[in-house]
Amino acid sequence: MVCFRLSPAPGSGLVLLCLVLGAVSSYALEVNVTDSEKATCLYAKWQMNFTIQYNTTSKNFKTATISDFSTATYNGSVCGNDQNNPKIVVQFGSGFSWIVNFTKKESAYLIDSISFSYNLSDNATFPDAKEKGILTVHDLVGFRIPLNNIFRCNSLSTLEKNGVVQYYWDVHVQAFVQNGTVSTKEFLCEKDKTSTTVVPTISTTTPSPTTTPTPKEKPEVGSYSVNNSNGTCLLATMGLQLNITHNKVASVININPNTTDFTGSCQPQTALLRLNSSNIKYLDFVFAVKNENRFYLKEVNVSMYLVNGSVFSIANNNLSYWDAPLGSSYMCNKEQTVSVSGAFQINTFDLRVQPFNVMEGKYSTAQECSLDDDTILIPIIVGAGLSGLIIVIVIAYLIGRRKSYAGYQTL
Ligand SMILES: *[C@@H]1O[C@H](CO)[C@@H](O)[C@H](O)[C@H]1NC(C)=O
Ligand SMILES: *[C@@H]1O[C@H](CO)[C@@H](O)[C@H](O)[C@H]1NC(C)=O
Ligand SMILES: *[C@@H]1O[C@H](CO)[C@@H](O)[C@H](O)[C@H]1NC(C)=O
Ligand SMILES: *[C@@H]1O[C@H](CO)[C@@H](O)[C@H](O)[C@H]1NC(C)=O
Ligand SMILES: *[C@@H]1O[C@H](CO)[C@@H](O)[C@H](O)[C@H]1NC(C)=O
Ligand SMILES: *[C@@H]1O[C@H](CO)[C@@H](O)[C@H](O)[C@H]1NC(C)=O
Ligand SMILES: *[C@@H]1O[C@H](CO)[C@@H](O)[C@H](O)[C@H]1NC(C)=O
Ligand SMILES: *[C@@H]1O[C@H](CO)[C@@H](O)[C@H](O)[C@H]1NC(C)=O
Ligand SMILES: *[C@@H]1O[C@H](CO)[C@@H](O)[C@H](O)[C@H]1NC(C)=O
Ligand SMILES: *[C@@H]1O[C@H](CO)[C@@H](O)[C@H](O)[C@H]1NC(C)=O
Ligand SMILES: *[C@@H]1O[C@H](CO)[C@@H](O)[C@H](O)[C@H]1NC(C)=O
Ligand SMILES: *[C@@H]1O[C@H](CO)[C@@H](O)[C@H](O)[C@H]1NC(C)=O
Repeated sequence: MVCFRLSPAPGSGLVLLCLVLGAVSSYALEVNVTDSEKATCLYAKWQMNFTIQYNTTSKNFKTATISDFSTATYNGSVCGNDQNNPKIVVQFGSGFSWIVNFTKKESAYLIDSISFSYNLSDNATFPDAKEKGILTVHDLVGFRIPLNNIFRCNSLSTLEKNGVVQYYWDVHVQAFVQNGTVSTKEFLCEKDKTSTTVVPTISTTTPSPTTTPTPKEKPEVGSYSVNNSNGTCLLATMGLQLNITHNKVASVININPNTTDFTGSCQPQTALLRLNSSNIKYLDFVFAVKNENRFYLKEVNVSMYLVNGSVFSIANNNLSYWDAPLGSSYMCNKEQTVSVSGAFQINTFDLRVQPFNVMEGKYSTAQECSLDDDTILIPIIVGAGLSGLIIVIVIAYLIGRRKSYAGYQTL
């Protein structure tokens, strides 16, 4: 472990620094298994160590620790094919190995099992060991990860069996990598989901740059329309980002217009735009007319499949967004949030909608949202600021004059 003394006063801060550096300096294992075409099919990067209890010749037992993997080799790690499953095989020292194998099941892959073998005959690692030879602990894991997701777990996970404790942390792994590109979609372990909100400092001190949460990119803008017998009756152009809070964890999903279908219907007083895709059963936008001269977004209903297979459904028919006069369209280029419920929000980007009175398939003149009006707002703010400043200067000048005047009088 390396310690740097940054300040002359050693204290708890220094101890913490040593611990952090200790974690950084420990050895990260990394394997990138490629197929015959040199395309990555299996990728993993992780840290681990083991403690092993063993019997000694003196009828006692001792604990050995294995944490040095600088000599690790990965021979035997394979992509897998129809007959064999993918696996990662790590050798270190003589007679030590660690094997994890994966299976594919429908739209997910499983970390099937983990085997760890150690060599009690290695008397440098296991001094005074009573038994000799190779022992193996085999753990069935059966952990499911959606296909085309990289599993990440920075938090500590442990496996304990037969006196052997296996510690894992900073884990990144993806099997069945598609098209040779390791996914950027992360599937987090439960501990990471909670620890990022509880102790954010831990995740910032982890060494791997791939673990820092990337800011969600803007969703792609999609064009949606609904036709009736007279032609196009509803138009919508927008980038949509769904923000779902489930079990206290917010997940942000961008809608990809390329893989999203849309339908809908148009009535005189109400219009519906329904989107659906492989993971969205339906996402309904219901528009209504009010006071016979304006339209607005009245209702949003959603039902979608979450990563763990459960269904998330929310409906709210008492909304009031995207309000504009009938015969015009509503436009908002800035990011805007439609808050459907505490657990479901839609962030919209480059939005333009016209649910009624569409003529010849084209948008009518747009009513812009107030967020877009900063071109007018900025001069007003600057102007207000400037006139405020002038008033302050005038007052200061008057007070200053009075003071000096008063000063002369007392002399
Ligand atoms: C894995 O190896 C391939 C081929 O050498 C390389 O193109 C790819 O960038 C590597 N991936 C990672 C994540 O290191
Ligand atoms: C093994 O890992 C655990 C968990 O990160 C850590 O507390 C412990 O100090 C490590 N042991 C060694 C010898 O590195
Ligand atoms: C240690 O010895 C006891 C009995 O002598 C046995 O039950 C136990 O399995 C042994 N432990 C290991 C790790 O070999
Ligand atoms: C692993 O493969 C390398 C070369 O690919 C070889 O030098 C090494 O001896 C092998 N190690 C084991 C444990 O088989
Ligand atoms: C186990 O360790 C002993 C002593 O270091 C060594 O001679 C033996 O070859 C090792 N076993 C294996 C299978 O590597
Ligand atoms: C994974 O490997 C273990 C042995 O290490 C084996 O018993 C098990 O059958 C393997 N599972 C699969 C699905 O290949
Ligand atoms: C380990 O075993 C070898 C013989 O196999 C012996 O020469 C050596 O002294 C032993 N080392 C210890 C620390 O017991
Ligand atoms: C991989 O490539 C195929 C064909 O080029 C494409 O259909 C598929 O969506 C790609 N998968 C990923 C995860 O990029
Ligand atoms: C189609 O257009 C005609 C004439 O503008 C109108 O009377 C009729 O109600 C429209 N039909 C529908 C389904 O909107
Ligand atoms: C709607 O009608 C227009 C022509 O009026 C046509 O170009 C367009 O493809 C139709 N859209 C759908 C979704 O049927
Ligand atoms: C998602 O919703 C949560 C909870 O309402 C909020 O804290 C978070 O900022 C939202 N994220 C985005 C990208 O809108
Ligand atoms: C959607 O398709 C367009 C053109 O085919 C492509 O440029 C774009 O990258 C695709 N977007 C996504 C998110 O796949």
